[in-house]
Amino acid sequence: MSKTFYIETFGCQMNAHDSEKVIGTLEHEGYIQVADEDEAGLVVYNTCSIRDKAEQKVFHRLNEYKRMHRNGKRFAVIGCVAQQEGERIFERAPYVSLVAGSASYRNLPQMLARLEAGEKRITGLDDRQTDETFDTEFTVRSNPHRGYITIIEGCDKFCAYCVVPYTRGKERSRTSASVLVEARRMADQGFTDIQLLGQNVNSWRDPSDRMSFAELLTAVGSISGIRRVRFTTSHPRDFTRDIVEAIDATLTLCDHIHLPVQSGSSTVLRAMSREYTRDWYLERMSWIHSAKRDISISSDMIVGFPGETDADFEETITLLDAVRYDSVFAFKFSPRPNTPALSMPDTIPDEVKSERLRILNDRQREIQREHYGRHLDQTIEVMIESYNSARGQIVGRSSQNKTVNFTVPAGAAQPPIGSYLPIYITRTMPNCLVGEAVSGAVPVQATRQPQPFVVLN
Ligand code: SAH
Ligand code: SF4
Ligand code: F3S
Repeated sequence: MSKTFYIETFGCQMNAHDSEKVIGTLEHEGYIQVADEDEAGLVVYNTCSIRDKAEQKVFHRLNEYKRMHRNGKRFAVIGCVAQQEGERIFERAPYVSLVAGSASYRNLPQMLARLEAGEKRITGLDDRQTDETFDTEFTVRSNPHRGYITIIEGCDKFCAYCVVPYTRGKERSRTSASVLVEARRMADQGFTDIQLLGQNVNSWRDPSDRMSFAELLTAVGSISGIRRVRFTTSHPRDFTRDIVEAIDATLTLCDHIHLPVQSGSSTVLRAMSREYTRDWYLERMSWIHSAKRDISISSDMIVGFPGETDADFEETITLLDAVRYDSVFAFKFSPRPNTPALSMPDTIPDEVKSERLRILNDRQREIQREHYGRHLDQTIEVMIESYNSARGQIVGRSSQNKTVNFTVPAGAAQPPIGSYLPIYITRTMPNCLVGEAVSGAVPVQATRQPQPFVVLN
């Protein structure tokens, strides 16, 4: 088997970052990453199981590549579908030789050695009992300016609809010292934007009892060279007021909080086992709304949870009006294996789910069309992400996580990717801002050279 690999990643940012760790581990074991699956000795799929569609995508992909297994190519399925389906994957896709969930990646070197020795059915399926996180010094970050740090893995909340506690195992946090060492190392390497990750990032508890989550945010934001700190995803149950105070006090902490509500109806929230009510959530919104900084708020919503009535759904719509989110990711409820919601009565027909999703997205688009208007005539610092040569625009991201498309004055040089520049906003749209670089402003440079790619889906 040739020691080349191709990796494809599905799912959330935790999976994207896990892939960066897996790539680093594979490279340390002597493997070389290639961009084309046809050229690879080992094809790795890092999978997601959050909704049925995500899982289907993986099996579709595996079917597509069935033809390639003949020439000695090996397949590995890792991530959430791997943990969920376990050895059943070998039945559905017999050419797969390795199935491993995220809690077992620390054993990857041993699993790779067995693969190289010709073993056909290797499994790394952790049984949720571990206290260990998957830290590795070999992580290969795909973006040289913005990097992820996982601070907490797993989830103990067991919402009625969700696979994550089964696929990711129990909640376990890294110590503040290890998070800060990694953040400092990244700052030394030229990263300016750090994103702290966790299924519920604000459920992080320092195993060494030194810091609260808000103190950790402030500590990372105080590292010299770090210009932006993001954290995602927060859970309303563990959302404390000192997080808002920390953002107010420390400019490097981004003015954006992703706090998924899932539903505006307390009845549905109870059925979902979210363990908060509409009012509890709105109280947290009022803390954010009364901050000194304009903190952008985003959310996830599920429509068509079993038993959701028209009146419940209407409460979700009125919540949109009350909060005025800057973005909402809305999903139709998808029944998932192992979860209590799978066997709940009062299922909602797909047409009703689709109609509710459409109403929700239409209303939210209207809110954003109006709410983004507040940025007109503001000057906003962006981090340069890419160039859109077809439209003659440069694409940047604001601290609030908004896309800003802008132009530079005639004759001015293009600001480098990863640099920061103030932009004067001349137009606002429901999903992005449009503007011009402030005349005479000098981009603040980032220093590192680009590194190898990760393929993301
Ligand atoms: N830990 C985060 C969410 C992680 S999963 C939280 O609790 O907020 C990301 C999003 O996927 C969820 O917020 C939810 O909106 C959506 N989701 C999870 N399970 C789902 C399911 N079975 N059907 C539809 N959407 C789902
Ligand atoms: Fe899933 Fe709920 Fe855990 Fe979020 S808190 S990952 S929705 S079980
Ligand atoms: Fe998907 Fe697993 Fe993330 S189910 S959303 S990849 S935690």
